[in-house]
Amino acid sequence: MQFGYFDDAASEYVVTTPDTPLPWINYLGSQDFFSLLSHRGGGYSFYRDAKLRRLTRFRYQSIPADNDGRYLFVHDGGDVWNPTFAPAQAALEEYECRHGLGYSRITGARGGVRVGLTFFVPLDAACEVQLVTVTNTGEAPKDLTLFSYVEWCLWDALDDALNLQRNLSLAEAEVDGSTIYHLTEYRERRNHYAFYSVNAPIDGFDTDRDAFVGGPWTALAEAAVPRAGRPGNSVASGWYPIASHCVRLALAPGETRELVFVLGYAENPDDAKWENGSGVAPEGERHEVGRSAPHEMGRHAPPEVRRAAPHEMGRLVRKDGARALLARFATADQARAELARLAASWAGLLGHFHLESADDKLNRSVNVWNQYQCLVTFNLSRSASYFETGIGRGMGFRDSNQDLLGVVAMVPDRARARLLDLAATQFTDGSAYHQYQPLTKRGNHDLGSGFNDDPLWLIWGVSAYLKETGDLAILDEPVPFDNDAALAAPLLDHLVASWYHVVGNLGPHGLPLIGRADWNDCLNLNAFTASPGESFQTTAGRGDGRIAESVFIAGLFTATCPDLADLLDRRGETGLAAQVRDSVAAMHEAIHDHGWDGAWFRRAYDAFGAPVGSATNDEGQIYVEPQGMCVIGGAGPDDGRARAALDAVAARLAGEHGIALLAPPYTRYHVELGEISSYPPGYKENGGVFCHNNPWIIMAEAIAGDPGRAFDYYRRITPAYREAIGQVHMTEPYAYAQMIAGPAAPRSGQAKNSWLTGTAAWAWHAATCWLLGVRPSLDGLVVAPRLPAGFGDYTVTRRFRGATYRITVTGAGTPATGRLSVDGVAVDGDVVPVAAPGATVDVLWQAP
Ligand code: GLC
Ligand code: GLC
Repeated sequence: MQFGYFDDAASEYVVTTPDTPLPWINYLGSQDFFSLLSHRGGGYSFYRDAKLRRLTRFRYQSIPADNDGRYLFVHDGGDVWNPTFAPAQAALEEYECRHGLGYSRITGARGGVRVGLTFFVPLDAACEVQLVTVTNTGEAPKDLTLFSYVEWCLWDALDDALNLQRNLSLAEAEVDGSTIYHLTEYRERRNHYAFYSVNAPIDGFDTDRDAFVGGPWTALAEAAVPRAGRPGNSVASGWYPIASHCVRLALAPGETRELVFVLGYAENPDDAKWENGSGVAPEGERHEVGRSAPHEMGRHAPPEVRRAAPHEMGRLVRKDGARALLARFATADQARAELARLAASWAGLLGHFHLESADDKLNRSVNVWNQYQCLVTFNLSRSASYFETGIGRGMGFRDSNQDLLGVVAMVPDRARARLLDLAATQFTDGSAYHQYQPLTKRGNHDLGSGFNDDPLWLIWGVSAYLKETGDLAILDEPVPFDNDAALAAPLLDHLVASWYHVVGNLGPHGLPLIGRADWNDCLNLNAFTASPGESFQTTAGRGDGRIAESVFIAGLFTATCPDLADLLDRRGETGLAAQVRDSVAAMHEAIHDHGWDGAWFRRAYDAFGAPVGSATNDEGQIYVEPQGMCVIGGAGPDDGRARAALDAVAARLAGEHGIALLAPPYTRYHVELGEISSYPPGYKENGGVFCHNNPWIIMAEAIAGDPGRAFDYYRRITPAYREAIGQVHMTEPYAYAQMIAGPAAPRSGQAKNSWLTGTAAWAWHAATCWLLGVRPSLDGLVVAPRLPAGFGDYTVTRRFRGATYRITVTGAGTPATGRLSVDGVAVDGDVVPVAAPGATVDVLWQAP
């Protein structure tokens, strides 16, 4: 069953009913100001950091779900409704939500009134703009009263939810003209404030939630002020601060009016937080509330001017930042121009890769939705989604390095800056803070380091950046260790440190020690935790953490370190390059001797030295990760082991909803394995389809020569291909989910944790670099398609290092090798040389 459709011409997903299986969201904003927005107007906004600078409040486990957002109530002669359907849930005669690139447009109609709301976060502006269009579609004049609504969060989202004894006495707000300011804690150590404004005179306001809703026993859906059709003009003082404008509109039949609401954030310098010392607003800045046209004002007395400035001895908050920002959105035309600028920016970003093939689902995935999700994961790591609460995790070291694969061609400068930030959280011994906070860019001490795969992902990230850009100079950039400038060293030294962290921490079989966990956060071989609530990711358990080893890290090592050796060679460090190559050869041997189980690669050795992911285990006999990563790293192409491992994946792990992480799932808790055995069978790492690693198998199949299987696996997890089973899949058909319940789960096929997953970057990488076969390398653009016979011809337009490559592929399939020509001249091998910036190059790949 579908709940909408793709409008490919507009690059939009159109949700056609409010009753989707779960909230289907979009992300607005890409740099500093972010909003999550559901198809019912739910969600929240924050500035840079979803934990420390949360602007609006969101209750994650509310019933009904998704009950906090930005809402517009329409009061039409006693009838109260919302164009977003929520929260009042009055039936709509028309409803549609178009999620586009960085904007969403929700339209609802009832009783002869149509309201369209276009939400977006403009470029270079710390605000969300809501362009509202109200049309009287009936035959008679309409007197409408509109009420906007947002609820403020007291900045620190975690403290906001926990520290009620303090927080309920803190709230302060101020109304100045049509702008409502949220000023909680500004009087003390904050230099920032939020505001919500409309570009029209208002007929009143509310800033106290209980006054607006009608007391503690009333749901927002039944809110008193919209029912009464008159504002409360309440001023928050402690309790729950909100911002609501009341705007009255008289509309002739057929008439349309536009309003621009702006929800914004501004900062003042610490030594210039106040407008003046005297408490008297400068002349010309005294705004009165309720300067509406006389006919609209007649209905009730205009509210008093509220400039209550309870802040510092009557001094007023300095507001020039807000005013300057509001001036950019003073008219609907200005807002539309900013929206057009945003659209142009997205077109530019996504334009670096364009596929035309006979497969619409593949086209829309790689051209639009997968790229879009890659930028979202790059921006937010695993911090804020409808499954990640924004108060838990910061930017993950391994996650961000992998997320980079999805955006390096789109935003190379931001990828570069991110790599330097990440590297700065590395320790001199090569290990790394597992996470850092985006606001401070400092490593997270609570969590610390000790995830032994982390360092290697930095090599992968830097090498992906270099293949895309050729910017070898980044290797000379001085980068602090442990965020300490005194410890700065060239980025290349950080990569070498990553390498020696692995070679310096090998276990009894010559395989890398796993530490607290490797890619699989839930395989905790050193934790031995038996108390509820304890962290699983420790090395507090048995022994000194120097026995349990990871075959996955071994595979990852063989997949990344050859790139490091190449870079060292290019830098003239041939001795070190040779040492790196020797260590890779030794790792291959260790995988060969101790990583092979007979029919597939083992996963690990536990703290007793016993194999994990082996036919000798009664549960968890085969894991997906090493099958993918060892083959990518070059294990077993000649002696049949690569093929055997991938066949074992097909036989034992692949199901209709994707490839499960392991089989058979653990049915009881294994203290020696940790969190992985804590999940019921079929969920999460315990045999769920953990989509993140499926692309590794797709790549491995492409490498090992079965493109049919590779493409089949791709379609099983890619949301556009699952759109038709929306009632089973449940999450958005335009964004990958972290997990789809595996075959052993009672609700197999249900997706969870959509949006913030490494799946986005890896699916993009697997599809474009391996299936479609257009792959950057240090020396040029590789063209080596790996699609099954019958896929048909296709073209890819790819921007690469400033030139445009128009690539035509004919007859991909079997055999895998083709004839390559560049501007009509045959080329040996599969690398198209780097063209001059600005050039357009025609590339033809033909089956022989
Ligand atoms: C989550 C984590 C990621 C980890 C994966 C597997 O997605 O963000 O770092 O690799 O789970 O456990
Ligand atoms: C939990 C999750 C796992 C995630 C980790 C992040 O272990 O199950 O998927 O990677 O938390 O810390």
